[in-house]
Amino acid sequence: MCNDPDIIAENIQQVKLGSPDYADRDTEEAMQDFIQRIGCYEATYVPIDDKTDRRLSYIKIFNVGSRYLVNRVQGHIQSRIVYYLMNIHVTPRSIYLTRHGESELNLLGRIGGDSGLSPRGQRYAQALAGFIEGQNISDLKVWTSHMKRTIQTAEALGAQYEQWKALNEIDAGVCEELTYEAIQENFPEEFALRDQDKFRYRYPKGESYEDMVHRLEPVIMELERQENVLVVCHQAVMRCLLAYFLDKSSGDLPYLRCPLHTVLKLTPQAYGCKVEPFFLNVEAVNTHRDRPANVDVSREPADALQTVPDHI
Ligand code: G3H
Repeated sequence: MCNDPDIIAENIQQVKLGSPDYADRDTEEAMQDFIQRIGCYEATYVPIDDKTDRRLSYIKIFNVGSRYLVNRVQGHIQSRIVYYLMNIHVTPRSIYLTRHGESELNLLGRIGGDSGLSPRGQRYAQALAGFIEGQNISDLKVWTSHMKRTIQTAEALGAQYEQWKALNEIDAGVCEELTYEAIQENFPEEFALRDQDKFRYRYPKGESYEDMVHRLEPVIMELERQENVLVVCHQAVMRCLLAYFLDKSSGDLPYLRCPLHTVLKLTPQAYGCKVEPFFLNVEAVNTHRDRPANVDVSREPADALQTVPDHI
């Protein structure tokens, strides 16, 4: 329910004036036209009535969250929805996502581990500090994982940061610190199974992307509550966060491109999120491995390694 004229005017401004209906129309004229249109909607809309509809389960949100009416909410899913709706907001803000600077293990093409930054990674941390300063962000919160490489990256900012264990990189279990070539050599069947269903595949003694989506739920909820936040995280984590904000499918999620030394600035807007990538001009290794054409367990090693990025 929205009857605050300022909120209505801002919504028309942000969402409606760009629609094809108002292409090449004067702003004030378009605004008046849409207000008239709302009047026509009002003639047919039937609001939920607190008395006659008292047996229904519903939540009414007044003026973008200034008041809530929660009626007959039952069970886990409904109460989670209420909790979610009470935590989101429409205050303009941006979320900055970045991976840590290039790490010593990135250089060797080894996944996971807890190594520190390479010299280029340290340069990225400095460049990130300069970039953030240049953005003039009010009241910025900085979050890292518990891993050395994100903490070393955030240290260069010279600001306070909060460490979240939930932001740690995917746990690759028995494959931790191995190169993709070594995984193919030691666990060829596992490697093929992962290529068959990368979202659901769980490393032996480790995690799947699906596990990570669950682990990141509290982080996402807190991101919804906060205003400007810089999240210094990891490749798999950044893919999960990006997929949430850009509404990507579970099939696309594990292949989203999140290169090192690039900040993605996400600005939530009505019906979506604007994404602006900023490459900070510090070279880094490529760590992205696309799904190879052949994902059969009996494939040749060359087929399995077809898309492995270069490394030392
Ligand atoms: O394992 C660590 C990587 O950052 C995630 O890469 O899921 O594309 O293999 P991957």
